[in-house]
Amino acid sequence: MIIAQITDFHVGYLGPDEKNCQNAERLELVLDAINKLRKKPDLILATGDLVEHGETWAYEMLKSRFANLTIPIHFLMGNHDTREPFQQVFPQAEFNDGFLQYVIEDRSLRIIALDTLDQGNHGGAFCPRRENWLKSELDKAPDTPTLIAMHHPPIESGIPWLTAQRNDPWVVRLRSLLSQYDNIAHIIAGHIHRNIYTKFAGTTISVSEAVAPQVKLELEEIDADNQDGRDLIVRSRPVFNLHQWDGYKVTSHTESAELGETLVQYDEAHAYAVKMTRDEKLEKPITEYPVRLRSKSSQ
Ligand SMILES: [Fe+2]
Ligand SMILES: [Fe+2]
Repeated sequence: MIIAQITDFHVGYLGPDEKNCQNAERLELVLDAINKLRKKPDLILATGDLVEHGETWAYEMLKSRFANLTIPIHFLMGNHDTREPFQQVFPQAEFNDGFLQYVIEDRSLRIIALDTLDQGNHGGAFCPRRENWLKSELDKAPDTPTLIAMHHPPIESGIPWLTAQRNDPWVVRLRSLLSQYDNIAHIIAGHIHRNIYTKFAGTTISVSEAVAPQVKLELEEIDADNQDGRDLIVRSRPVFNLHQWDGYKVTSHTESAELGETLVQYDEAHAYAVKMTRDEKLEKPITEYPVRLRSKSSQ
């Protein structure tokens, strides 16, 4: 089973004129790259910050981008989203107890989408109402491998201006709940606009880079009152992640939408390549094969 994760589109960053929306173009590139995969994902999880300011027009702009998508897609809320405009434009989205939280069943890996939006605030939330809902859902299938998806990663990211704290009440509440279960196969999140891998509540967690531009890697402490001139956001290629479930574990891959030139293709000239990487017997020594790095554009 393959889950594509796309996150942090921030569509509508420069207002309602779609021609100005580079983030919508970046989303288009990512969807195109996913559609071109030979082995298609079973579903797509869009882990929040779908639009920049949560307006209805932005969700409509977003919806038009999915018009030709044939892979099922499920949305989550980020801190840039607002629930009511989203619900107006996507009325089929499943809300429970007022939150965009739901379970995707009937697959070998159970998926639980959490709503960590704390409307009006940047950081995440996991209140007692959401805790009750999640606990009741986890208790329905405590032996089924389960992936949890959310926007805000409940971890110290190391990026000092974009991080949760270990002792944030919502982080403590989520950790103490999830620690009671041993069937959580993996957690995925967005929000930081960087790839990050670590552990949380006894399981693994991965944070995916964004469709929108990325956050610069810098782990030095930051002073909110002293602008030290560091780079915060940088131009970058739009990214998506694939999470592959093999029945035992989740393996995560990252891909950029704009791949540049192809250097090596699996064709006649490189017929040895797969045998070599699998350590299978070659017809002749590797040095006797011609080195033929080439690009599509030169053919
Ligand atoms: Fe974001
Ligand atoms: Fe965010």
